[in-house]
Amino acid sequence: MSSSVLVTGGAGYVGSQAADALLRAGHRVVVLDSLLTGHRAAVPEGAHFVELDLADDGGVESLFAGEHFDAVMHFAARSLVPESMREPFLYLGDNVANAVVLLRAAVRHGVGRFVLSSTANLFGEPTRIPIDESEPLVPGSPYGESKLVIERMLHWCERIHGLRFAALRYFNAAGADPGGARGEDHSPETHLIPIVLEVALGKRQNVTVFGDDYDTPDGTCVRDYIHVEDLASAHVRALGALEDKSLALNLGSGRGYSVLEVIETARRITGHPIPLVPGERRAGDPATLVADPGRAQRELGWKTRHSDLETIIESAWRWHQVHPLGYDG
Ligand code: UFG
Repeated sequence: MSSSVLVTGGAGYVGSQAADALLRAGHRVVVLDSLLTGHRAAVPEGAHFVELDLADDGGVESLFAGEHFDAVMHFAARSLVPESMREPFLYLGDNVANAVVLLRAAVRHGVGRFVLSSTANLFGEPTRIPIDESEPLVPGSPYGESKLVIERMLHWCERIHGLRFAALRYFNAAGADPGGARGEDHSPETHLIPIVLEVALGKRQNVTVFGDDYDTPDGTCVRDYIHVEDLASAHVRALGALEDKSLALNLGSGRGYSVLEVIETARRITGHPIPLVPGERRAGDPATLVADPGRAQRELGWKTRHSDLETIIESAWRWHQVHPLGYDG
């Protein structure tokens, strides 16, 4: 069934890909984005765009008063673990306060379904790998804490207002739109794969490896990289699955790669030597984060199709070669 969906942060990296997937599935899409970190050019054609900051309570209220949404997908948030370790109140303040504005308007205007862009950073130092949904929620940073607070708000919105929700806890979003229209463009860039590819493009001299003395096979951190298009398709399916019940799901590929393995794979794909320099550990980085995607597969009838590391890096490399300056270039 076609729904009308408000996508906050739909000019961002994951939100824009999800907005596009919703349009492909036949939904009507309104994108709300402040363009603080998002890009107007990332908003897919066919989506109606509203430039608005969620901190603007009156603006958000008017948007909901003017149009009925069946569902909200909430991506708009600060999302950098290291930044949150330096500036915690950007996260514990803004991320949480903006979600309050959004949720209050959503329940007041009878929205039935809510999909939250949540994070594997809810599992700061996991007790078991791979990580399933029974893992205790002990966030690893103020960023993760902000998402946990929003998940708890959703719990109460369901109990009190009947709002159905899916909390989708992503592991490491990576790769670019298979069609080439969208990719990762952060300023400044902090994520491993785009940084490695910027070295291959000649935009940086080398990549610093943050710590080589972790308790992992090669001493560098292990992460579960999931292709942004696989995340997008999980969001579309989650919307349908919310007919029956609320959900909290871990979204990853189930396979982990170390920082050195990522660099090695990028060397092979780009043909560039990609020099590395050893560096200090980065605050807030757990040694290993790998998902058990079993529950997500069962509940959503979903599986990853693009999330092997080669496909991820190949798609990102195509995007970076065509857009060496990101969207603005
Ligand atoms: N890394 C380096 N050098 C760099 C950049 C990163 O060694 O220049 C390492 C990091 O220390 C980490 C790994 O590469 O071990 C991945 O780092 P990213 O910055 O790419 O991603 P994070 O794991 O820090 O965080 C990402 C998202 C978060 C999300 C998390 C969940 O940015 O929003 O995945 O796993 F919470």
